[in-house]
Amino acid sequence: MRILITGASGRLGSALNAVFSARGHDVTALSRDQLDMTDFAATRARITSAQPELVLNPAAWTDVDGCAREPERATRINGFGAQNIALAAVEVGAAVVYVSTNEVFDGRLNRAYYEYDVPNPPNAYGYSKWVGEQGTMQVNPKHYIVRSAWLFANGGKNFIQTILNAAQAGDSLRVVANEVANPTYTNDLADSIAELVESGRYGTYHLVNEGWTSRYDFARYALDRAGFTGTPMEKISTFEWNRLSTPPPYCGLVNLAGASVGVKLRPWQEAVDAFLRADGLLAS
Ligand SMILES: NC(=O)c1ccc[n+]([C@@H]2O[C@H](COP(=O)([O-])OP(=O)(O)OC[C@H]3O[C@@H](n4cnc5c(N)ncnc54)[C@H](OP(=O)(O)O)[C@@H]3O)[C@@H](O)[C@H]2O)c1
Repeated sequence: MRILITGASGRLGSALNAVFSARGHDVTALSRDQLDMTDFAATRARITSAQPELVLNPAAWTDVDGCAREPERATRINGFGAQNIALAAVEVGAAVVYVSTNEVFDGRLNRAYYEYDVPNPPNAYGYSKWVGEQGTMQVNPKHYIVRSAWLFANGGKNFIQTILNAAQAGDSLRVVANEVANPTYTNDLADSIAELVESGRYGTYHLVNEGWTSRYDFARYALDRAGFTGTPMEKISTFEWNRLSTPPPYCGLVNLAGASVGVKLRPWQEAVDAFLRADGLLAS
């Protein structure tokens, strides 16, 4: 299949490029300086000249605190930018995958969220991504909305590496215990997106590594598996972690729709092990 990928130098964009190329697809991978999705004319020209059958759109402004500071800019990029992509795709007959987030939910339901639960974004980033979901769905009937959570990728800036670096440096570790979601490995997410689009079943999906956990337990698991079993860590609450954006407190995602077409990711603990193994960090 002829495929165009946006935001291709990002964490998920790189994984999508590797996975779809390895599966034999004809991939055009474009970074922001080659395709800025906020510029509709340029986006349309790029997509028209590439004539893709499928556009994978993981591009986003992912700085959640930046989005809180500049909510209109967030909506212009993550919301209207995604609509530009979906519209340019529909003009050449291409389907589109829009990658979204668990932060479209407010995390106050006291249970994990299904694909059909009603979004109520708790912050500007989540709101901008919800606008992107709507913009994509409204203009391109051949859409996959793929919500995911807490991505970690080899080689990029990520939570696990930050924790391990701090442990290595002997810094004292304080990690939030009352924020819950699904840690998800970009390689697994990219594989599952490839399987999903091969199914041809358009719709809204929650593609995450199986299971959810707190940030504290996520960090503890990664430290233990990397051999830092004796490293102490203090549990704190989100109220003690002063930041501009308000994260949803309990925001695990259930993959019901993907599983129904045979697309399911492994448990997050196995994914963390795979991530550590790939970087030579898994303790024997
Ligand atoms: N990270 C997470 O924990 C997480 C969780 C759930 C869902 N998601 C979603 O998953 C997707 C991928 O996330 P990620 O962590 O891989 O993000 P990332 O590493 O920050 O990559 C995003 C990419 O999008 C590009 N971009 C920004 N503005 C753009 C624009 N106007 N036009 C075209 N490209 C633009 C960025 O380019 P520059 O670097 O040059 O700005 C970057 O290469 C995003 O849609 C995000 O909302 C992420």
